[in-house]
Amino acid sequence: MLVELLHLLITPVPFAHRRRGHLRESVLLMSRGRRCRAAWAPHLAAARAAILASCEGLGRRRVAIVLGSGLLEDVPLAALAARFEAVHLVDAVHLWPARLQARAHANVRLITADLSAVPDRRDPLSTLCGGEAVDFVVSANLLSQLPILPLDRPGFVPPDLGSRIVQAHLDGLARLRARVCLLTDVEQIEEDRSGQVIDRLDLLHGVRLGRPDRCWTWELAPFGEAARHRRLVHRVEAFLDWRGP
Ligand SMILES: C[S@@+](CC[C@H](N)C(=O)[O-])C[C@H]1O[C@@H](n2cnc3c(N)ncnc32)[C@H](O)[C@@H]1O
Repeated sequence: MLVELLHLLITPVPFAHRRRGHLRESVLLMSRGRRCRAAWAPHLAAARAAILASCEGLGRRRVAIVLGSGLLEDVPLAALAARFEAVHLVDAVHLWPARLQARAHANVRLITADLSAVPDRRDPLSTLCGGEAVDFVVSANLLSQLPILPLDRPGFVPPDLGSRIVQAHLDGLARLRARVCLLTDVEQIEEDRSGQVIDRLDLLHGVRLGRPDRCWTWELAPFGEAARHRRLVHRVEAFLDWRGP
């Protein structure tokens, strides 16, 4: 609790991102990740392996960009920094553990940006990732997170806002000339202790991705984390060369 409060106080973050709730969400995610370290480990290892497989064989290795870099738990930062001339880490919030990791590499740069291309705004991906020198882009378990805060805002929310935000990110990625690695959780499954499925939640709001190159499960909340006799498991998909569904 005290650690969370400290991060809320000392993290440099634009006021708009703080107001929209990005900082709070990041701190909560960090705390859950620490509590669920063992349960999350296989997912994080699978994600890091997928990123490295995706950039294998690239002819040029100038700039690599990681969208939704967060705490760099699923990002093989040292390997990317060794393979590419420059690595840009993009997120709405960079908490101090990620800032310190980034500082260990002279060619790693942090960029703070809101990546949700809501329909009335310019596509942030073309601005951030459309440069001629960008050879590799990773969307690192970001896609399902993009609609969460916009859908939570008070007032009228258009019923298709979630799917439009998801689709806009996918379209933005598909337009890039760089190799794109898309990692995303697609479905949440709630199970009881006998393994019976209690509930399912489509994390991509009806948007379908097609056939992934790799898939695995992520035990997001083991028994006792969100509820004593229920656990939450996410289905994760990896596309090593995303060009659209
Ligand atoms: C599940 S985490 C990804 C995990 C992260 N790759 C890691 O290794 O720790 C999702 C990330 O997306 C970021 N995010 C969510 N909505 C965003 C937005 N609109 N713009 C930029 N980043 C956003 C969050 O701040 C968070 O760091």
